Amino acid sequence: MRRKFIIGNWKMNLLQSEATALITGLADELDALDGVDLGVCPTYLSIGVVAPLLARTHVQVGAQNTFWETKGAFTGQVSPQMIKDAGCTLCLVGHSETRGRFGKLDIPASTVGIFAESNETINLKIKALLVSGLTAVLCIGETLAEREAGNTDSVIASQLSGALAGVTPEDLLAIVIAYEPVWAIGTGKTCDSPEANRVCGVVRSWIRAEYGDESADHMRVLYGGSVKAANAKELFSTSDIDGGLVGGAALLPEEFIGIAKAGL
Ligand code: PGA
Repeated sequence: MRRKFIIGNWKMNLLQSEATALITGLADELDALDGVDLGVCPTYLSIGVVAPLLARTHVQVGAQNTFWETKGAFTGQVSPQMIKDAGCTLCLVGHSETRGRFGKLDIPASTVGIFAESNETINLKIKALLVSGLTAVLCIGETLAEREAGNTDSVIASQLSGALAGVTPEDLLAIVIAYEPVWAIGTGKTCDSPEANRVCGVVRSWIRAEYGDESADHMRVLYGGSVKAANAKELFSTSDIDGGLVGGAALLPEEFIGIAKAGL
């Protein structure tokens, strides 16, 4: 039986004082939910204030991105070692917003290029996180155009094979996969639970084919995209969804608690 994992992705929200207030109000209530794994991913700048507040709880702290080198002349980048040093145990990788695949922002292609990362850079980041002993939360998902063209499953397979190139079955123990259809992120449009479960099943089948039964049965596959307290239970009670990666609702205390409870 896989334990459910609920991770809040705060994205570019909350000043340090606001992050402190949110977590101070939530820490004890979240910690009491010991039947579910929990995590929050503040901005880099708030990790240092959030991590001490959660240090004696089972709620993990994660970063939203990283770079693959240890240190050096890489202006603006933050290494896995630095994230770990600040108190993180996990890190998101390949979120659609860092891949430049925005679901709702209407921005020119030249601007998307600033954000864009490829399966190759995602693969380098995963390997760097593994070396540092951090859990990598690999985000994958199709855009609306890819879905409408009938390419959802092939997009998922190519993102998995690119991101996990050279990753061993032992490495997989420190990886969580989050299926996040780009068209459902921050739009209020949830992928309905049968379809979300189907695609999470496609992810698991891919792992089974490449790595075998043990890895597939162990792998936690989360769903992300407009998860709320009202739809979490239905999503999490399907066969292949093992929790959620939660954006907007993770900023609202009652909502995040409700989603966390749905994972019990
Ligand atoms: P959302 O974001 O819950 O606001 O849709 C999810 C995510 O991007 O991780």
